[in-house]
Amino acid sequence: MSDIRKEIERRRTFAIISHPDAGKTTLTEKLLLYGGAIQLAGSVKGKATARHAVSDWMELEKQRGISITSSVMQFEYEGYCINILDTPGHQDFSEDTYRTLMAADSAVMVIDAAKGIEPQTRKLFKICAMRHIPIFTFINKLDREARSPYELMEELENEFGIGTYPMNWPIGCGQEFKGVYDRERREILAFSEFHRGQNRIRAIECRLDETEKLDELIGPRLRQSLADDIELLDGAGFDFDIEEVRKGRLSPVFFGSALNNFGVEPFLESFLRMTMPPLPRISKDDIVDPFDEHFSAFVFKIQANMNKAHRDRIAFMRICSGRFERDKEYYHVQGGKPLRLAQPQQLMAQERAIIDEAYAGDIIGVFDPGIFSIGDTICEKGQELCFEGIPTFAPEHFASVERVDTMKRKQFEKGILQIAQEGAIQIFHEPQTGVEEVIVGVVGVLQFEVLEYRLKTEYGVDIRRRSLPYELVRWVDNEDVRIPELNLTSDTRWVQDFKGNNLLLFTAPWCIDWALKKNEGLRLREFNRD
Ligand code: G4P
Repeated sequence: MSDIRKEIERRRTFAIISHPDAGKTTLTEKLLLYGGAIQLAGSVKGKATARHAVSDWMELEKQRGISITSSVMQFEYEGYCINILDTPGHQDFSEDTYRTLMAADSAVMVIDAAKGIEPQTRKLFKICAMRHIPIFTFINKLDREARSPYELMEELENEFGIGTYPMNWPIGCGQEFKGVYDRERREILAFSEFHRGQNRIRAIECRLDETEKLDELIGPRLRQSLADDIELLDGAGFDFDIEEVRKGRLSPVFFGSALNNFGVEPFLESFLRMTMPPLPRISKDDIVDPFDEHFSAFVFKIQANMNKAHRDRIAFMRICSGRFERDKEYYHVQGGKPLRLAQPQQLMAQERAIIDEAYAGDIIGVFDPGIFSIGDTICEKGQELCFEGIPTFAPEHFASVERVDTMKRKQFEKGILQIAQEGAIQIFHEPQTGVEEVIVGVVGVLQFEVLEYRLKTEYGVDIRRRSLPYELVRWVDNEDVRIPELNLTSDTRWVQDFKGNNLLLFTAPWCIDWALKKNEGLRLREFNRD
């Protein structure tokens, strides 16, 4: 096997998604720990140090008021080279979070066992489902009071319309959490308080028929109820089908406690066994094989002003095929120009490092003198191809924005357009009115503050912002439709994006139903691929 093939084959690139507080950071840290990328001393203290280490970069941005990074961490584990894409939660939630999922080959969904599916999980799941990437579920915090595992799985199936397959099964929860039953090995891994916070957990292993030992470990009552559960699960006759997992139709479910480091290593091992090396990517004319020796990549995120003194931008690329080499001449398809990337960077868990080479599946950050846009393709000269664009996702918050100083028209227009081109905000205007008002749409409200901050510091423009009552936006798919003639609720507003696409802003879901019902043939889309 060629070296390139070997390198690509051992890569696994996935995103971790969750609603804030479900335990994404904790799980990520434990995964990094297994890769030896960070060292934890004791649970609490170590965790704080580790968190500091992995998120330093974000801290820097926070001080500048810009906190929109989806960071990437790479580590090695048992011969695999793993790239974890972190998707920020809380108010950092932005379109970047969605775009990050475009660069992943699979997703790990962390769910709080007491809460089940929460709003952010729902939004992120939708994007994963749109791409049909495999989704693995880690149900966390079993050491606390939790909902019934049956109920949690049923919720996943009903809400997300996917199958679930429990890879392990929890034995009790909260104070009574005794461990998990590994369905593949047909063995019990008993949880021991003693292991709390240790680096590597070697759980006590025990077979289901070792009654005496089990009674000692988990007690007769839990042993009996576990035996009943296993009988029920095995009897359900629902076979595990790896192909269904790979198509994103069946989610393997793991139970555990990230904080106590319980169930994390078996999860990682199973996960690595089930996931695939980098997946092929669709270009406009073909399917690009990751093992093709020719390098190709697409830009999925642009981070402005990493270093304010230089006003620089970093473009993050996902390598889709072949090997990347520093300083080699490549070709930027959209710019129509050759290109040499002298300082490619990679985040190696703790720090940004300049790298000499990278392979399909990896994410690299390159200095962007203002030439890249989201979705751009970089490839080898003479081997030109163009990846499908990254969809624009529907914003959820809208505001009308105007400049305070009427003299600063040029700066205002330039600034707002550039920030929109980076994909941090979306801008719309009302057609045929000549009004100078700009409507800004964002996925997370923090983006409004980022916009305000950046217009002021980078372009010297102060703005006035007025919230608008819209919550939903749809792109109009029909080319020939005359929008002013549509039958719409009075509060529905027609706008265009800066590429001239027609959109409708709605205040409530029923207004969309109205539009569809009253205008036969009208087609509305939740995201746009232009
Ligand atoms: P997030 O990235 O998804 O937002 O969640 P994060 O890992 O920060 O975890 C949120 C809180 O839940 C943290 O507590 C964390 O310690 C706790 N947690 C994570 N996994 C488990 C688990 O398996 N069991 C229990 N009981 N708690 C868990 P915090 O008090 O908010 O933060 P910290 O002070 O511990 O850092």
